[in-house]
Amino acid sequence: MYRKSMDDREMTDLALQSTVDLNNRVKIPLIGLGTYLSTGDRGYRAVRHAIKIGYRHIDTAMMYDNEVEIGMAIRDSDEPREEIFLTTKLWNSDHGFEQTKAAFDASLERLGLEYVDLYLIHWPVQGLRLDSWRALEELYKEGKCRSIGVSNYMERHLEELLKIAKVVPVVNQVEFHPYLYLKELQDYCMKKKILIQAYSPLTKGRMLNDPPLKDIAKKYQKSTAQILIRWCLQRETIVLPKSANHNNITENMEIYDFEISKEDMKTLDAFHRNMRVTWDPTTQP
Ligand SMILES: NC(=O)c1ccc[n+]([C@@H]2O[C@H](COP(=O)([O-])OP(=O)(O)OC[C@H]3O[C@@H](n4cnc5c(N)ncnc54)[C@H](OP(=O)(O)O)[C@@H]3O)[C@@H](O)[C@H]2O)c1
Repeated sequence: MYRKSMDDREMTDLALQSTVDLNNRVKIPLIGLGTYLSTGDRGYRAVRHAIKIGYRHIDTAMMYDNEVEIGMAIRDSDEPREEIFLTTKLWNSDHGFEQTKAAFDASLERLGLEYVDLYLIHWPVQGLRLDSWRALEELYKEGKCRSIGVSNYMERHLEELLKIAKVVPVVNQVEFHPYLYLKELQDYCMKKKILIQAYSPLTKGRMLNDPPLKDIAKKYQKSTAQILIRWCLQRETIVLPKSANHNNITENMEIYDFEISKEDMKTLDAFHRNMRVTWDPTTQP
């Protein structure tokens, strides 16, 4: 689905602003700037810099406590609003039908924007998540968000959701990197036309000095961060590297001038060790 919807272009032909079609035909740029912990002036400047050098996709959440500065950075940028793809998320304490609608309006208010491109359920909160999904469907139909999706959903959460959903989620945003290669979940999602968004693709920096990863980086004369981002793209995810450092923000977009060979992709796949650097949804009922 991912390859075909990119007009059969080869990965090396892609550029920073390359997009893929979501299941509702909305286009999403393949790389998004993660913004967890990018708050205040640092968050504002990170987003301004990213947009200036060509990022067109920004990922935030109510929980990151930075919607005000991120909305401001988007509004202050030279790009028209429709050129930027913005995601925000419903936090756990705001689940339930009416609460979700109110939380969404509060997010829009903080962002100072008229719509978001993608609204996600941040976490599958037991008992309330189906009511929240119905609220997201209404927000989508009202045109307040151009697409809706979920995050941290395992297969059983998706099965439950798909039984009642009138709108199929466009993405499932989960932790995804070679040390946590969730192939089965991805295959399941692909069958349902749900794309994976890879969060913590840089393992929060934890594995950037891993010797086998460094060996591969050396071979391609790239940084280990660039190898991880490129692996996510070649494994057909939408990737969300976070940085508030201007050099790193630039470095993280310089991943379209090389391609990891099939053999090296397999070597990277074999790094999998079920290692999580963020929270673990596998035991969430
Ligand atoms: N839906 C969810 O539940 C969920 C959970 C976690 C994350 N997310 C989203 O995914 C985004 C990314 O995940 P993450 O923030 O957990 O971690 P990440 O992107 O894996 O790693 C971020 C860390 O890597 C460093 N870094 C970035 N680029 C680098 C480079 N080129 N060289 C060396 N270090 C580099 C950053 O430091 P500097 O800032 O100093 O560059 C930061 O410490 C989040 O920001 C958020 O938007 C979503």
